[in-house]
Amino acid sequence: MAEAGDNERHDAIDALMEESRTFPPSEDFKANALVVGTYLYDEAAEDDEAFWARQSADLLDWAEPWDTILDWELPYSKWFTGGKLNVSYNCLDRHVLAGRGDRVAFHWEGEPGDTRTITYGDLLDEVCQFSNVLKDLGVERGDRVNIYLPMIPEAAVAMLACARIGAAHSVVFGGFSAQSLADRINDAEAKVLVTADGSYRRGSVFPLKPAADEACTNAPSIEHVVVVKRGGNDVEWVEGRDKWYHDLIDGASTECPAEPMDSEQLLFLLYTSGTTGKPKGIMHTTGGYLTHVTYTHKYVFDLHPESDVFWCTADVGWITGHSYIVYGPLSNGATQVMYEGVPNHPGNDRFWEIVEKYGVTIFYTAPTAIRTFMKWGATEPAKHDLSSLRLLGTVGEPINPEAWMWYQEHIGGGRCPIVDTWWQTETGGIMISPLPGATTTKPGSATFPLPGVSSELIDDEGKRVDVGGGYLTLTRPWPGMLRGIWGDPERYLETYWSRFEGRYFAGDGAKLDDDGYLWLLGRVDDVMNVSGHRISTTEVESALVSHPAVAEAAVVGAADATTGQAIIAYVILRGGQDVDVESLRSHVAGEIGAIAKPKMIFITPDLPKTRSGKIMRRLLRDVAEGRNIGDTTTLADESIVDELRARAAISTDD
Ligand code: WT7
Repeated sequence: MAEAGDNERHDAIDALMEESRTFPPSEDFKANALVVGTYLYDEAAEDDEAFWARQSADLLDWAEPWDTILDWELPYSKWFTGGKLNVSYNCLDRHVLAGRGDRVAFHWEGEPGDTRTITYGDLLDEVCQFSNVLKDLGVERGDRVNIYLPMIPEAAVAMLACARIGAAHSVVFGGFSAQSLADRINDAEAKVLVTADGSYRRGSVFPLKPAADEACTNAPSIEHVVVVKRGGNDVEWVEGRDKWYHDLIDGASTECPAEPMDSEQLLFLLYTSGTTGKPKGIMHTTGGYLTHVTYTHKYVFDLHPESDVFWCTADVGWITGHSYIVYGPLSNGATQVMYEGVPNHPGNDRFWEIVEKYGVTIFYTAPTAIRTFMKWGATEPAKHDLSSLRLLGTVGEPINPEAWMWYQEHIGGGRCPIVDTWWQTETGGIMISPLPGATTTKPGSATFPLPGVSSELIDDEGKRVDVGGGYLTLTRPWPGMLRGIWGDPERYLETYWSRFEGRYFAGDGAKLDDDGYLWLLGRVDDVMNVSGHRISTTEVESALVSHPAVAEAAVVGAADATTGQAIIAYVILRGGQDVDVESLRSHVAGEIGAIAKPKMIFITPDLPKTRSGKIMRRLLRDVAEGRNIGDTTTLADESIVDELRARAAISTDD
């Protein structure tokens, strides 16, 4: 396989291939599981379009039936065309109309320990109110609304209110900088920004409004800023533009009809990093997306909505939060936990305290979190009664077998199946995963594509790989697939559909073992995966070179025991300039957000380049990971490698 560090990839493959432990679903789990055996796979293999159509008809309420299941003109798919439905109706009204208005939708837990219990009835009322607020602010069907909120219920309310009136939301993770927020607002040309004064993080108030204010000075499309009061921190106020959420809600009616939308109505944009400096606005639409997330949430998590308590620890600012906190679970009428803060406040057992308190039955988190829990030790979960748990999930990056086994033993008490779910912002919902009552799992393998999903591994020549390593491609359209990149159709074609003809290229390498199990191995492009978050090397490089002291920068993702990959930067300063590494790190945080801060920055007089001037990233990665450097004969100046090595050796990790 190409660039992305062949050596470490092969080491990883070898380690994974030695993994021979298997875990069939227990009789206990199977007794109540929604799916045992292969019937869903068989049905989907027969006719995938008919399969998705049956799921959609069974799982959703359509206001008007569709004419065509799939309109596929490679690479553009439209699902359930002619059909009409309202996402917010499916997530709220239908449950209330069926007499389940008193069911808890969210057990919300604030970081300081304050709580709110929100039923489906409550949520419907507030969503209707906020829908009316948005309409009064001039938001119309087809407009875009930006949401920059912490993990508070208002985030779900704002998203569902947009869906209710046919406006597309663009949620920006609260950890992104003012600049990143402004870029996303400008790209989407949003009219309204919904934000908060601040929220609790690690025991103190983390202010959000100042970043929103700063973003708005560079984002002329914003007409109104709606501010949720959560942190209680002092905020500046722009008269005429800023309004308190609670003031607007106060006077708003709880009646707001859910108008049926076209199946292909834009539901949201979500920006994600690609291989260039500019994030891509991934487009998701209505009927197909809701079908995909409702179906996967139900079957992958074996959801029994009347008894389960589901907790996905992601932030609503990421696709995982969109699909498995807001749309999938609410469409299925699930009861969930939503938590505002960090896992180690006030103690390292906060998550397990929450599991015990609410009787969480299904827990979904990222491998990086599991590795952090491992570091904190098994005594933390052991302080709590976790016997309510019956199913565990992971997402965001490959999980190493050791972390999988620890999760299984110390969180799952040896009794819970684990679903390792592979998917992407672009796929909308889970694509490759076990079905917990049907699939025998192997620690570290995401196992097989779900019923309805078709994947294939392909080698450099585009030939199908049946056993061994290759590039992961998807060969058939699926309902939750992205419909494009906002404002950039060329990039859509180029990024996903140009590498292998007629196939969607995911950007991931994977391996198939002798039993046909898939082992995901990480990105093969210049996209890093840091704690399950996608960050492009180019984006961090542009942030670094925007600092006045920096002449040139090269960024690589190096293997990291906790975060999967860590951001390592090599920087050449402009002549005569001196700058400390810490201020460069803060500069990156200011440009992109704290998640993009390099773990280490090396100031270097030169960078290893090929004779044609291309930076040799693989070599930089080898240096960063302390590996022996292979062939350097294509290097323009070989002495630079010794120089870099010497610098790496004296560096200390902060
Ligand atoms: C990339 C997508 C899907 C929501 C969170 C991340 C990696 C995701 C797995 C997994 C191995 C995984 C891939 C993918 N990834 N899940 N179970 N095993 N790798 O969404 O930011 O769009 O990133 O995350 O590399 O391409 P995203």
